[in-house]
Parts: sequence; C-alpha cells; structure tokens
Amino acid sequence: MGHVDAGKTKLLDCIRGTNVQEGEAGGITQQIGATYLPAENIRDRTKGLKADAKLNVRGLLVIDTPGHESFTNLRSRGSGLCDIAVLVVDIMHGLEPQTMESLDLLKMRNTDFIVALNKVDRLYGWKTHGDTRIVKESINEKQSKDVRNEFTRSLTQIITQFKEQGINTELYYDNKERGETYNIVPTISAISDLLVRDWNNGEGIPDLLLLLVQWAQKTMVKRLTYSEEVQCTVLEVKVVEGHGTTIDVVLVNGVHHEGDQIVVCGMQGPVATMIRALLTLHPMRELPVKGTYLHHKEIKAAQGIKIAAQGLEHTIAGMSIYIVRPHDNVEEIKEAAMKDVKSVMSRIAKSGEGVYVQASTLGSLEALLEFLNTPAINIPVSAISIGPVHRKDVMKASAMLEKRKEYRTILAFDVKVTPKARELADELGVKIFTADIIYHLFDQFKAHIDNLKE
Ligand code: GTP
Ligand code: NA
Ligand code: MG
Repeated sequence: MGHVDAGKTKLLDCIRGTNVQEGEAGGITQQIGATYLPAENIRDRTKGLKADAKLNVRGLLVIDTPGHESFTNLRSRGSGLCDIAVLVVDIMHGLEPQTMESLDLLKMRNTDFIVALNKVDRLYGWKTHGDTRIVKESINEKQSKDVRNEFTRSLTQIITQFKEQGINTELYYDNKERGETYNIVPTISAISDLLVRDWNNGEGIPDLLLLLVQWAQKTMVKRLTYSEEVQCTVLEVKVVEGHGTTIDVVLVNGVHHEGDQIVVCGMQGPVATMIRALLTLHPMRELPVKGTYLHHKEIKAAQGIKIAAQGLEHTIAGMSIYIVRPHDNVEEIKEAAMKDVKSVMSRIAKSGEGVYVQASTLGSLEALLEFLNTPAINIPVSAISIGPVHRKDVMKASAMLEKRKEYRTILAFDVKVTPKARELADELGVKIFTADIIYHLFDQFKAHIDNLKE
C-alpha cells in the first residue's frame, strides 16, 4: 500500500523479475493484482543474508493496490485481504495523503506492517552497487559521508512524521523493540533497465522479504494454520480464450475443488454455478505466460486463482464467493451474496435523472460514483452497469433525452464500447466518454458539462 507512484508495483516487479508497471496506462495501477511467491524463490532471494532460521512458510501471496486517490475502495479491499502489509514510502516525499489513508486503514483493522522506504537511490550522490544486496552494508560502507548524512536526515524526518501519526518506527537493523516499533527497510526497486533484467539486484528487497517471512513464521503460527472456512474475493472478471468468462479470485482461507457449487454476486442477481476449472498463473507472474495457465483439481489458501464456470458474465468484482455445501440453504446464501451491491445501488438518484455510469469492476464503479458525488462536482447518476457498453446501455441512456439533455451521457471507464453501441449512440445523440485513466474521464465530462452550461 502507499501513495501514488511511491513504487509499489516496481517493488513487486523487482521481486518477480517482471515489468508490469511500464505496461500500465499512465504507469498507474487501477486494479488489485495478486502474485504468488513460492518459498524456493524467497529462499533464493534471501540467501545473501545468511539467515540461520529455516523458511518454513509455503510462500507469500502478494497483493498490489493502487495509490491514486480515487481508489480508496480498492485500497480498503486490499488491506482487508491481507495479514501483513508493506507500506511503501518515497524517501524524497515522506508521508503523503494516501500514505496516511493507508495507515488509517491498517490501524483500523489492526494489521501489522513493514515500511519500505523506497527510492533511496534518489538521495543526492547515491552510488549504486549492482552486487550489493544488503542495504545496511551499502549505506554504512559504500556511500559517502554526505550521502549517509542525507539518508539519516530524511530517515529522521520520516520517523517524526510517523510519530505524529501515533506510530513508532525504526530502521529495522536498529530496531530493538519489534512489535512495539514498526520496521523500516530502505529499498531501491527501479533505477535502470539493468534491474529489470537482473532481478538479483534491488537493494533492500531481500531484507524486506526476509522480514516478511520471519514475521509470518513468528507471529502467525495459528493464523497460518489452514482453516476450513472459505474466504474468497473476486478481483476481476475476464473473458479468456478457451475458457469463456472467468473470474480472478483471491482465496484467503479454505479450499476450492473442481466441481464445487458456488454462488457469486451478479449485476442481474445472484449467480449459482459450478466450478468447471481451477487455474493459476505460473508462480512469480501477474500475467499468463504465453496465454497458458496451470490446471488444478483442488487449491488451498492462500492463492490467487482463476475460476472458469458457466454464467459468470455479470459477476461483480470485489464481492465474496460462497460455497454451497450439501445441507446449505441456497436462497440464504444468494441473499448474503447480494448484500454489498445493494449499497451501491442505493447511490442512484431517486429522481431517475442523471448520467449513465459504466465501469469494469464494482471497485472502479464505486470510485466513479464517489467522485461524481463530491460537492464540487455533484453530478447525479441515473443508472449503472459493469462490463462493456452494449446497445441496451445506449437505449437506457437515451431515455434522458426528454428529461435533462446534458445527462444523455455514458461515462465508460476501462470498458469497451461495441461498434453497434457506437452506431446507436450516434443515431440517438448519446455522448459516450471513455477513458482508461479515471481522472481523464472526469476531465472530459467536466468539459462537456461546462460546454453545455455555456
Ligand atoms: P501507483 O500504483 O500508481 O499508485 O504507483 P506505484 O506505487 O505502483 O509506483 P510505480 O511502481 O508505478 O512507480 C512510480 C515511478 O517511480 C516509476 O516511474 C518508477 O520507475 C519509479 N520508481 C519506483 N521505484 C523506484 C526506485 O527505487 N528508485 C527510483 N529512482 N525510481 C523508482
Ligand atoms: Na504508478
Ligand atoms: Mg502501482
């Protein structure tokens, strides 16, 4: 977690040896991604630290969240899924608004965290040593006195900022009161392409991984013990060649089997279906390798999973998945599955006047609704939808024609518009705004409203 551009995705890229960040629209994360880091990789990555303790966790499931202010809901969802967080702070910027917000979410849920003090290479005069994997050595032995002083000055300032938030922090190798005082690990996750190619680089990252694993082993013995109760959240809904509409989920607790009966929350009501295939990405990846996935008969938590099943088209991201056991009451489960969506539906204007809002996930839809609802903007919403813009959406939006002309508009975030829908929109005079960066959409639409007002 952390403020926009603190380097969360790069940090993960550096651990995985991938380059997801540069593929993002505007370099901004707008969804929650999950990556499994197997114990072998962590062992390999931390061997330079010569930790004597054995690594006896199976691995870590890492969830990347967006830092942009519009995505409070996704940060909240992400922090709700995790056992421990990495709070990424840019050493040049210190604590920023979304750092504070993340901190509040962590405090609220009583979630432990480690601070990654990132971009240490930005300190004036910092010398990078590709072979240095241990940040303490790098700072104490390889940098000039000026850089060391600069580092201490920035660190002290940031520790003070944390103290102002009621949080004690300390450089991890000086921290004698772990538990009371949170650890700070200085990191470098991106300085040049070299780091992407040679993923053994990345100062501080082995230190961070080792701390995470040690923490897990020490404090989570009970919670790490596998529990039967299924806790599973939908991250994304995606059409995949050969599998139809699939859902990407994070299984936090319990087990999924091929053939399990499940209930998910859908745009048009609850969906009861059966798991046809349980798929995972290759370890250390956030995207499929050559379009392929690994198949499983059963999967235990914690894992990021792709589920293929019939009828998932209208599944809403961010919602829980429920397993139906032989003696369960399906109707009760369906009702539970639909609870959250009702709260979003309640934000639609009672007057029936307003714009039509469409987004790829419930999370981004919530972000859009939140924005439109701010006093400075105050744009009413008449209807919402999740997924591509179809003719039927244009038809519904065109109904605003007789009411309020300026609202005869579809705001479409991160979704496709079908050619037929475009055609109909032109015919009916419905304006469709699309964007893959949420605030670009706001800008366009605001310009449109301002135009109409003139
Ligand atoms: P959001 O997901 O949009 O909130 O941002 P993020 O926190 O994931 O940050 P991201 O990984 O997108 O990095 C933001 C920018 O900082 C990119 O241009 C990175 O190349 C750069 N960056 C990240 N880590 C480092 C670092 O350790 N050193 C330097 N110099 N630049 C970094
Ligand atoms: Na970014
Ligand atoms: Mg990111």
